[in-house]
Amino acid sequence: MFTKLTAGSVLSISVVILAYLYYKDDPDIDNRLDQVLSGLLRAEKKLAIAKPRIALGFGGCEDLVVNALNLFNKMGIEPPENPKHFDSVHSEEELAQLLAYFFQHGAAAERYVSNDTLFSALTKMADTLPEKKYFLGGNAPVMARRLANEGAEVLLGAKFTKQLRNTLPETVKVVGGEPEEDDIHLLMEYDIGDKWGKYKSPRANRLIVHSDNSNPYIDTLEDLEKEIKDFKPSVLVVGGLQMMDNFPFKEGFRQERLAKLRNLLTSTPRTTKIHFELASFTDHTLFQEIIDNVLLYSDSLGMNEQELPNLVSMLVHGNISLVADSQPRIASVLDQLRTVYSILKKTREVDRKRKITRLHLHTLAYQAILTTKGSQWKNSMSAAAKASLTAHRYICGSQYINLMKARLIMDDSFTTTAAAQHSQRIPLQENRPVSCWDEDDYEICLAPVLVCTEVIKTGGGGDNVSSAGLLAQVNSMF
Ligand SMILES: *[C@@H]1O[C@H](CO)[C@@H](O)[C@H](O)[C@H]1NC(C)=O
Ligand SMILES: *[C@@H]1O[C@H](CO)[C@@H](O)[C@H](O)[C@H]1NC(C)=O
Ligand SMILES: *[C@@H]1O[C@H](CO)[C@@H](O)[C@H](O)[C@H]1NC(C)=O
Repeated sequence: MFTKLTAGSVLSISVVILAYLYYKDDPDIDNRLDQVLSGLLRAEKKLAIAKPRIALGFGGCEDLVVNALNLFNKMGIEPPENPKHFDSVHSEEELAQLLAYFFQHGAAAERYVSNDTLFSALTKMADTLPEKKYFLGGNAPVMARRLANEGAEVLLGAKFTKQLRNTLPETVKVVGGEPEEDDIHLLMEYDIGDKWGKYKSPRANRLIVHSDNSNPYIDTLEDLEKEIKDFKPSVLVVGGLQMMDNFPFKEGFRQERLAKLRNLLTSTPRTTKIHFELASFTDHTLFQEIIDNVLLYSDSLGMNEQELPNLVSMLVHGNISLVADSQPRIASVLDQLRTVYSILKKTREVDRKRKITRLHLHTLAYQAILTTKGSQWKNSMSAAAKASLTAHRYICGSQYINLMKARLIMDDSFTTTAAAQHSQRIPLQENRPVSCWDEDDYEICLAPVLVCTEVIKTGGGGDNVSSAGLLAQVNSMF
């Protein structure tokens, strides 16, 4: 099902906003959302049901979720004069500046707090807030649960207490041992339009802080390695490596761990696909090591709209880009995906390196999946639809999609590239909401998200969405 391409001119942002306001008062809007939803559900239904075996690493923790502004008020932390970025947090002042920095951009971030007194004061206070919620956390466990709920057989390298482990489905086999207590990651969420002093957030998002002294060592690696040979997974998913970011390792220790991880990847047979879920990296030496030891050994990559420009920046210039547009234009993200794909395509398949054949970009407004033609990744259209529906379901906290809580923020049409001479305009067709088209040796599918307007949860959304898309394509391999 390919969308026909038509040429056209670029809509200005003001026109898009006007169009949105117009739709809001228009009875047709319900009908339009309804059509998009039916289209997405139809595409999702086409997916084969299979029970693939999937192995995942690394890390496990307990997520404590609160409202950022409630917590800061209760702690008596005032909005700072100047927002500022820090690689790791030492004091309340730094924390306030850091929140302001990401809050004003609506950008997701995750940072290590080196001050134990501060971190424990934060979690104690968070625990007293009425809205607080505890969840099983960590990228790999969240993905593991999603995949198990969808019917996969899962092997997970992670460390949990029994109590937390029991919240996972029984079909998840956990290897990695039990810690005395679970590490807590504090997710401080805010909504679109929230105000903190003179700052206003352009979209709902969260700042995560942790003081985790075990997950950075990816110490469940050896346990996973031992089990994986017999488990023979279709896919090995690697995530949670951002825990290493700005962690005070002993000299050389981080490199040692990453080399060990590379060994696991190189000893994995080609019949097992390797998916790497990117995250927010701020230390450019670490990011380069991760590219060299993990990314170049992966077949598939998942990332959000902040992680993609950061990866482009690393691959093209060798530097980090900390915050990017929280609602980037489709044409420019598609160009970024092409850049990543074409650079990684040049990877020489020596030393058991792998060529990237799949890129999944998850954003608030849409899902984009690029796959190499003729690769094992099939059904991109349904996978994009599945990812899009999962994004809504996750954030609204409900399997049923209530259109009263949904809106489309994707433009009515988009151009495929910012390079004017090659650009084509693709309209969003309500009755066939997922657009797929071919270019060179790859296909791109793009699905609009019915954005959830009553946010229950944002943290972990990327992991859910990415796993939903991945599983859709793994199932189609059989
Ligand atoms: C650590 O945090 C505590 C509590 O906020 C603060 O009193 C202390 O000064 C901080 N330590 C450093 C080194 O900033
Ligand atoms: C990264 O380096 C490039 C080229 O030197 C430069 O144009 C760009 O502004 C830098 N980006 C950041 C975020 O520093
Ligand atoms: C997303 O993942 C969480 C954690 O694994 C799970 O509890 C939730 O049911 C998932 N939600 C959706 C809609 O996929």
